[in-house]
Amino acid sequence: MTFSDEFPLHPSVCYLNHAAVSPWPKRCEQAVQKFSHENVQWGATHYPQWMLVEKTLRKQFQALLNAPDWQDIALVKNTSEGLSMIAYGLAWQEGDTVIISDEEFPSNRIVWESLKDKGVRVIEVPLSGENPEADIIAACDESTRLISISSVQYASGFKLNLKPLGQHCKDKQILFCVDAIQSLGAHAVDVKDIHADFVIADGHKWLMGPEGLGVFFSTSEARQQLTVNEYGWHMIEHVGDYDRKDWVVAKSARRFECGSPNMLATHALSASLSLILEVGMEAIARELEAKMNHLTQQLDAHPNINIISAKEKQRRAGIVTFTHTSLGSTELYQLLMKKHVICANRGGGVRFSPHFYTPLEVMDKAISLIP
Ligand SMILES: Cc1ncc(COP(=O)(O)O)c(C=O)c1O
Repeated sequence: MTFSDEFPLHPSVCYLNHAAVSPWPKRCEQAVQKFSHENVQWGATHYPQWMLVEKTLRKQFQALLNAPDWQDIALVKNTSEGLSMIAYGLAWQEGDTVIISDEEFPSNRIVWESLKDKGVRVIEVPLSGENPEADIIAACDESTRLISISSVQYASGFKLNLKPLGQHCKDKQILFCVDAIQSLGAHAVDVKDIHADFVIADGHKWLMGPEGLGVFFSTSEARQQLTVNEYGWHMIEHVGDYDRKDWVVAKSARRFECGSPNMLATHALSASLSLILEVGMEAIARELEAKMNHLTQQLDAHPNINIISAKEKQRRAGIVTFTHTSLGSTELYQLLMKKHVICANRGGGVRFSPHFYTPLEVMDKAISLIP
């Protein structure tokens, strides 16, 4: 598969940083250009059509997540906002515990730690054991209210098997919340299959959209457990009936969207998702796996590189992190960035994250630039 038309990246750049912020596909740029041109010429004359794009975006997310209904999809600013809506929506009891892993990105740790004053305790389960899923399940007891876990860890790229976790949560009436920002767009995420109550992801990584717009999925049962903390004209049942004085919170996930939407990002992200859905999640995951196989083999063959990410295929998605025998990670990161190898300095190593369209030559060139 070649996608050079959709990703005409500057030839000097080896872009291996989709786990941070992705380049946009061409069609995303075109959607933004069209939308700005329309705003300049017509203002919001065609707002009803824009609302159809917004509905399409919800349906695209429904398809990507295999969600029961498009009305289970809320469009939020980012992952952190979705997680905060859960943390500050639930009615906590003194002594409740939340289970996370010891490798979480700060967004999925700080928000739970912030509940300390409400008597909520956070338990961090190490992912370094033989069977981390079993370790997470073993950490649950009567006090466990929620497991909140990243499907793929941001620094190591470690991928969890979510199904047994979701099944345990379902059996024990524990809420199951997945930070899927490092998965969605890289490999299939099926909210029904994993029994997720909440799934949140932002649009600017594997989904290849702009920053500022993400997805917050909730089942209708789970979202009824959340008190809404942001109010406005957009989150009520009879949205648009401005003269009406009585109101109730919308049944749908729109209840988490208090005011005007991010219409520019809606157009951009919907265009990017159209590419993902066109190629298909299965094909994308297959291509990405092939790219990751090539990348890890080449890194393994490099005399000065030690891969610190898990090597088993089922434990990785699109992230590989490594150290160098003589250069520190910051030094190596700076050296690579100077040579236009776009990567990240994470978890004590340099992190490479190609996407499904990344040409093999780009990865080979990046590796050839490692001393
Ligand atoms: C696992 C994970 N969760 C959350 C975030 C941050 O998400 P947001 O900026 O959408 O709040 C990141 C960003 O790198 C991440 O890797």
